[in-house]
Amino acid sequence: MITTPFTFVATSEAIAQVGGIPVFADIELDSYDIDPKEIEKKITNKTTAIIPVHLYGQPAKMKEIMDIASKHNLKVIEDCAQAFTSKYTYPDGKQAVTGSIGNAGCFSFFPAKNLGCFGDGGMITTNDQAVYENAKMLRNHGSRIKYSSKYTGIITP
Ligand SMILES: Cc1ncc(COP(=O)(O)O)c(C=O)c1O
Repeated sequence: MITTPFTFVATSEAIAQVGGIPVFADIELDSYDIDPKEIEKKITNKTTAIIPVHLYGQPAKMKEIMDIASKHNLKVIEDCAQAFTSKYTYPDGKQAVTGSIGNAGCFSFFPAKNLGCFGDGGMITTNDQAVYENAKMLRNHGSRIKYSSKYTGIITP
């Protein structure tokens, strides 16, 4: 999975946790966000997804990233940990809130974030029914039906 090297370690950690290998594409110097041109250079037949990080509330170049993803049949997971309610502006002036553009968006409600909760917390946004069902199962011991686990769930310390 392709992501930026200029992020908190959690981004590449998430890739490693699902058995993936983080592949880093360099950033743009004016925004510090991942550079779409660098993403294209890193794509191989093993690439499955792109994880742009909207750093400091500044959305990555999502139009270019979504175009690359659709050309190469890749998923896009937006790391929105630092971009709660940020708005991305398309070249034609239309706007979209971060987390609503890719296949899924991941938010952090860690106390230091713009919207902090009491302890650790987060949110996944998606318009993909399968991602929604899987995420709900993973947070509940991999199960939809009580005492019947399809996956190993995620246990947070
Ligand atoms: C860009 C980025 N991604 C992911 C995370 C991880 O968030 P959490 O600690 O809620 O898992 C952070 C937290 O600092 C972050 O800044």
